Amino acid sequence: MIKKIPFSPPDITDREINNVVEVLKSGWITTGPKVKEFEERIKSYCGVKNVILLNSATAGLFLSLKALGIGEGDEVITTPYTFAATSNVVLHCGAKPVFVDIGEDFNISVKNIEKAINSRTKAIISVDFGGFPVDYQEILDLCRKYNITYISDSAHSFGAIYNGNKIGTIPDFTVFSFHAVKNLTTAEGGAIVFNSDDEDLYRKLKLLSLHGQSKDAFEKYATTNSWYYEIQEVGYKFNMTDIQAALGIAQFDRYESEILPRRKAIFNIYNEILKNENLILPPQKTESKETSYHIYALRIKNIDEKVRNEVIKIMSDKGISLNVHYIPVVMHPVYKKMGYDIKDYPKSYETYISELSLPVYSQMKDSDAEYVASCLLKTLSILKIV
Ligand SMILES: Cc1ncc(COP(=O)(O)O)c(C=O)c1O
Repeated sequence: MIKKIPFSPPDITDREINNVVEVLKSGWITTGPKVKEFEERIKSYCGVKNVILLNSATAGLFLSLKALGIGEGDEVITTPYTFAATSNVVLHCGAKPVFVDIGEDFNISVKNIEKAINSRTKAIISVDFGGFPVDYQEILDLCRKYNITYISDSAHSFGAIYNGNKIGTIPDFTVFSFHAVKNLTTAEGGAIVFNSDDEDLYRKLKLLSLHGQSKDAFEKYATTNSWYYEIQEVGYKFNMTDIQAALGIAQFDRYESEILPRRKAIFNIYNEILKNENLILPPQKTESKETSYHIYALRIKNIDEKVRNEVIKIMSDKGISLNVHYIPVVMHPVYKKMGYDIKDYPKSYETYISELSLPVYSQMKDSDAEYVASCLLKTLSILKIV
């Protein structure tokens, strides 16, 4: 029987199960005290003033744009090297995504951003690819210079470090994902965090997240004689439930002590075994940044797409799931139809055809990681790549 190594299964222990069961038995399962508790925990972890938990990062990105009034005729600068959620939300608002190619670290190239800014540019959405922070301060400086809002799609980077602090404090909005494959999961879920003292902004985002209601369900029904509410905005239905928050709190309890160190250990095992002049290891740590160890994105020098895909097939036959992050957004049919062309983003294309993502999950044993890396090296050597 071959050994099966999945790509990224969720790490669910009795702690998560017990927390969820407790909520199920509590009589309150939608947005309520557990969401509040989780918001407070994230607030102090990230060192931010405001946290709004939602049902996805997509909702968080969309709401940020909506709260700013971004719409038709506006442009939002972002990276093509991401999941389509990042740019789909711009289109949902009626605005135009303007893609700026990436640099050596998979992240948007700051030096190319300035050339793309014009009078229609209203926001920049950068992505911390694989958990490795972008150059926040440099992007913020550009945003301030041109009076543009800075939104960070930090779907991958909860717990990453920038200038000695947890990320979340520098951009105008930082959006996290707690989707099932993320480091910390609530099955589906996300959060907007921001550091502003603007109470109207917080209130607007809260209203927009739940049909524009002046009170959420807990405020209406769990306290006495407070049934009256008003619809003050044409809002959406993006709230997180207490079931999800209970799961998230259990994950959060284990995040710094178990989940992050384990992911880092797996990265280090891969780094050790895959040290090779024909391989480029993922960005991990610099003087000012440390990844959240979300995606182990390996690049292979001088490979083409066909051979890269062959490597994935051989590894899959051996029971090991690999992945590719990402097919650049502009290569997807719906974006091509809009006129975007990958030829305009050569670094994204070069990165895409050479990239392989290796399995990383916190239940993974050292021996599993050693097995994956040695099978991969053997495969690359048979194909005469290393
Ligand atoms: C870079 C990036 N942004 C946004 C999202 C959307 O996250 P969610 O599924 O929580 O909406 C994802 C999801 O995988 C992502 O990878």
